[in-house]
Amino acid sequence: MIVGILGGGQLGRMLALAGYPLGLRFRFFEPAEEAPVDGLAERIRAEYDDYEALARFADGLDVVTYEFENVPIEAVRFLAERVPHLYPPLAALEVSQDRALEKAFFEREGIAGPAFEAVDSIEELRAAVARLGLPAMLKTRRFGYDGKGQALLHNTEDTATAWQQLGGVPCVLEQFVPFDREFSVIGVRGPDGAIALYPATENIHREGILRRSLAPAPGVPQEFEDTARAAVTHTLEALDYTGVLAVEFFMAGDAALANEMAPRVHNSGHWTIEGAATSQFENHLRAVLGLPLGSTATNSYVAMLNLIGAVPNLDAAYALPDTHLHLYGKTPRAGRKLGHITVRTPSRDQLDARLATLAAAGIEVE
Ligand SMILES: Nc1ncnc2c1ncn2[C@@H]1O[C@H](COP(=O)(O)OP(=O)(O)O)[C@@H](O)[C@H]1O
Ligand SMILES: [Mg+2]
Repeated sequence: MIVGILGGGQLGRMLALAGYPLGLRFRFFEPAEEAPVDGLAERIRAEYDDYEALARFADGLDVVTYEFENVPIEAVRFLAERVPHLYPPLAALEVSQDRALEKAFFEREGIAGPAFEAVDSIEELRAAVARLGLPAMLKTRRFGYDGKGQALLHNTEDTATAWQQLGGVPCVLEQFVPFDREFSVIGVRGPDGAIALYPATENIHREGILRRSLAPAPGVPQEFEDTARAAVTHTLEALDYTGVLAVEFFMAGDAALANEMAPRVHNSGHWTIEGAATSQFENHLRAVLGLPLGSTATNSYVAMLNLIGAVPNLDAAYALPDTHLHLYGKTPRAGRKLGHITVRTPSRDQLDARLATLAAAGIEVE
């Protein structure tokens, strides 16, 4: 069985690595010259508007999925007409490609989130600033990731600069949330409606980029996790979803506020490779293939550290027991995710001790 995957980044790489033990083969579609999936599977290198290449990609595939949510919707629609199964569904992709649609979806479904307004011009932005108050975050509706396409407005004088900085494109203005913590809940749903959720993951971002995840989330009280789990379950059902979905939350005062969703495997779920009974990657494949979902349980305390911009000396990580390296084979560049380290321990204290050892050896742990 060959699984077709749009996007050939590290998420695609980890999907393939999870699929080989299940006897699967993969075909990727990725326009970049270099891709983390190279050497691992067949790849079609073409642009997403090259329909001849898309047809070649689709030829003989039973299922197509994606590891990247900014795939042009027309390309996905084209493929959906040519393969028996395309998951997650087009509607989920459409909603999560556009922050205004995504936030409106949460609102409509009764899932709490930061107050927001869609703005299409500087005049609309000024009016939204007056209504929502400051500080506020301006975010492009489309193509944002790792904190790109965002500007923080502290005072009204920042309005014009922020609008220009983001290129004068359609945006959402959103209340700045002075959150206590950030966490995510990753869920998976099969085509038969079966759902499994991973324990909540606590995340630290810097400059908009995920640095560290801890699971199960040490600082997230049960009631916040319960609210988030209900929101993820509801989202999976409302979108008639198949595959893995991640939702990011802010823990602010007594509220868990939905920030955004990703219709794919997610960086905050990388810990599941070693830390959960079934990884998010394997469960995504199981879901899109209509196989029974695997257990999402964990019996460990796990930290996932992203390696960003440059790979530090990893001797200390190689030396620690039950510490796992994942390098994606990417060329180093500022702000780029090059790999991650997963530390798995039987107790929270041991996890803290191992992180202290890594920190002392010059590996960033938060
Ligand atoms: N409204 C907000 N209030 C406070 N911090 C925010 C807000 N929106 C985003 N952030 C911070 O920026 C990070 C990245 O923003 P996010 O909306 O998740 O975009 P993306 O991950 O797609 O770049 C968040 O994880 C959070 O740390
Ligand atoms: Mg995010």
